[in-house]
Amino acid sequence: MKPIVKAFFDEQTNTVSYLVREPDGTACALIDSVLDFDHAAGRTDTRSADEMIAWVKAEGLRVEWILESHVHADHLSAAPYLQEHLGGKIGIGANITLVQDTFGKVFNEGTEFQRDGSQFDALFREGDSFHIGQLRGDVLHTPGHTPACLTYVIGDAAFVGDTLFMPDFGTARCDFPGGSSEALFQSIQKILTLPDETRIFVGHDYKAPGRDDYAWETTVGEQKALNIHIGQGRPIEAFVAMRDARDATLSMPRLILPSLQVNMRAGQMPEADTDGNVYLKVPINKL
Ligand SMILES: [Fe+2]
Repeated sequence: MKPIVKAFFDEQTNTVSYLVREPDGTACALIDSVLDFDHAAGRTDTRSADEMIAWVKAEGLRVEWILESHVHADHLSAAPYLQEHLGGKIGIGANITLVQDTFGKVFNEGTEFQRDGSQFDALFREGDSFHIGQLRGDVLHTPGHTPACLTYVIGDAAFVGDTLFMPDFGTARCDFPGGSSEALFQSIQKILTLPDETRIFVGHDYKAPGRDDYAWETTVGEQKALNIHIGQGRPIEAFVAMRDARDATLSMPRLILPSLQVNMRAGQMPEADTDGNVYLKVPINKL
């Protein structure tokens, strides 16, 4: 079955969020939503999420799932806001517990911060499946960028999060805590075993040298032939050497500190402080 896919692009964070719906029905899922955040001002804004909500309502759709491909380090998730307005269950990879453990320590979260993934409604593992109305979704565990990364294969469409980017941009970084370029290579091989005509929807786009427009849809066949990091059967040793050398030159994403603190809580802000206000931490010399 071929789902209908609508993309929402956030130019502030280069994030692509997706609405995936049944071809003949009203059930849908929302993937990798964005809560706008002005870091300098410490102010959130629901502009991007409201655009999704308006679309769902205008089309008369029913949200069954609000899915995260992973704990994003470059934007805040709007999952709880979407759930409040549209319903649906929030799902992420079961290895979220590893991410919560790592960053629970980085941010010195107390024992009140649960590291068992219980902030989410569903924790998915390799081989799990779920339904969006008549559509079936299958879960691939595709670690490397983070240990909890998932690819959601829904009908003929694979939502790969931050594993593969467009063929002319390559692949995602693997230098965050728990990341691994070897693991990413193996995960990508798993994605590339899907049929060549499988549509691939990537989690970010940054354009690429010689390309003036944003793009987010490609296919397994195109990735195999053309991906500049992994195409043409590039061997693991060459990929790992390239990826690790490149990662060593990258600076941290602008929103990594707020993103992790919010996203590891399924998009919820930390508990309010004693004065009733919410604060995010900046750990010094930790990342
Ligand atoms: Fe990411």
